[in-house]
Amino acid sequence: MNGTNTSAAAGKHPLFVVSNREPYLHSRRQDGTITCAPTTGGVAVALDALMRERGGTWIAHGAGDADREVVDASDRVRVPPDAPTYTLRRIWLSPEEERRYYGGFSNEGLWPVCHIAHVRPVFRSEDWAEYRAVNARFAEAIDGELTDPAAPVFIQDYHLALVAGELRRRRPNVRTALFWHIPWPHPDRLRICPWRREIMTGLLANDLLAFQLERDRRNFLLGVRDELPAQVDRGIVRMHGRETHVVSAPIGIDFDRIVEVASDPALINETERLRRELRINDPAIDVIGVGVDRLDYTKGIPERLEAVDRLLTNRPELRGRLVFVQVGVPSRSKLESYASIESEIDQKVADINTRHGNGPEDGPIRYRKAALKIRRLVALYRMADFCVVSSLHDGMNLVAKEFIAARDDEDGVLVLSEMTGAAHELGEALIINPYDIDGFSRAIDRAIEMPVEERRARMRALRRVVAGHDVFLWASDILQGLENLTAALRPVRGAAVKHSFTDPLARPSGDARR
Ligand code: UDP
Ligand code: G6P
Repeated sequence: MNGTNTSAAAGKHPLFVVSNREPYLHSRRQDGTITCAPTTGGVAVALDALMRERGGTWIAHGAGDADREVVDASDRVRVPPDAPTYTLRRIWLSPEEERRYYGGFSNEGLWPVCHIAHVRPVFRSEDWAEYRAVNARFAEAIDGELTDPAAPVFIQDYHLALVAGELRRRRPNVRTALFWHIPWPHPDRLRICPWRREIMTGLLANDLLAFQLERDRRNFLLGVRDELPAQVDRGIVRMHGRETHVVSAPIGIDFDRIVEVASDPALINETERLRRELRINDPAIDVIGVGVDRLDYTKGIPERLEAVDRLLTNRPELRGRLVFVQVGVPSRSKLESYASIESEIDQKVADINTRHGNGPEDGPIRYRKAALKIRRLVALYRMADFCVVSSLHDGMNLVAKEFIAARDDEDGVLVLSEMTGAAHELGEALIINPYDIDGFSRAIDRAIEMPVEERRARMRALRRVVAGHDVFLWASDILQGLENLTAALRPVRGAAVKHSFTDPLARPSGDARR
């Protein structure tokens, strides 16, 4: 734990987290039993860490095929399944709502407009109508759950840009913060979105709005200045008699939990099982690389495979010695852009394995197209000589930070795209440009050949950065910031309402666990 100050304020009221993606999904197995699995993705993993420690209620879309069977009459279920600490309140969406609000507006419109990855954004007015309707449904559900009117509501990401506005119509004094986990585009690009003004206005209904990077925050404020009848005074936006503080707060990971898993002596069994499954227990294999991603076109997976391909072409003596393990979790597969990146990756893996190995599935790329749970993931991170994160654009990238946390042996090299938010903090990684395949493949070569003293020095420095700003400090920056703001706005009996215009994040942080 890195926070030193107890933040009573952060823990005084129950916390409400709201996101589209739920942290746990129930599904029915073929034998008829119900299983519960954690979901993949930065939002679910990061916020689950916070909620495990702090408790409260998390409101999200119930997307599992057995989700309805395990909730109570109020659509609630306690999670995590092994040792419940918080309540998951599920919201049900019809297939049409899901298709238009989630598949359409969120993932064919907002996701590609916010990521520079060359997939053309698609904006349809039918999707937009459903996005508005579903955001209103989320607001209605929060309203029903909020027994304590002073409780902070912490909204996540681009699916829910209109929730705060809808909620505020019902409860004018509600306290909300929204964290935008993905990049925010420059106004020139944002102009593609026909409903950008409505989205920005919706976001400004929050008391606090937080982005990953200073660059995202700047882009947002530029967009507001260009497009809205608002006054922008440093990080404070005033519009329609309200004000919103706009800050940047890069997200972290649950460092301690990963260290705990990494140092568990029982992990050795997990490692052995994984080695067998991935067929990497052959003593001839002495160089292992890993990549762990959702199968998303923003992640630069084809570029990464090309870099490995080039390295094996330039250094044929590595054939039979080098294995690259790629974990790819299918994601948003109903959308054409995702189906096509999946098949492009399938083809590339088969082609590389055939050229540098013995056949489509028997070569240097060990491709595992399914999610790994935390213990397996940590075992995989620890067996790697190098980890590659090669996103074409990424808000942060938690895999980069998890790899570092897992390496308490102070070994392993991180090869990291300069297009990730993580690269702004992790300067001791080998920084690459995923469009420069030659430079990228040289960086992998350098990672393989790096002397042990240099590996250790870099990893030590990286671990200091990641340990020093974990997910609890991130959350407490935001929740304490929200608390400071609304405390400043609360009228003191007999005195005029005073606004505090200092940056709430400049104050010392507490620890959001309490
Ligand atoms: N993840 C996982 N199992 C997997 C692959 C990924 O639990 O098989 C988790 C991973 O540990 C990380 C998150 O999914 O916490 C991915 O977050 P990241 O920020 O790297 O990318 P995102 O998917 O959010 O774009
Ligand atoms: C990114 C987004 C999250 C999302 C995750 C997984 O991290 O920022 O909001 O939950 O990807 O994507 P999915 O579509 O499965 O929720």
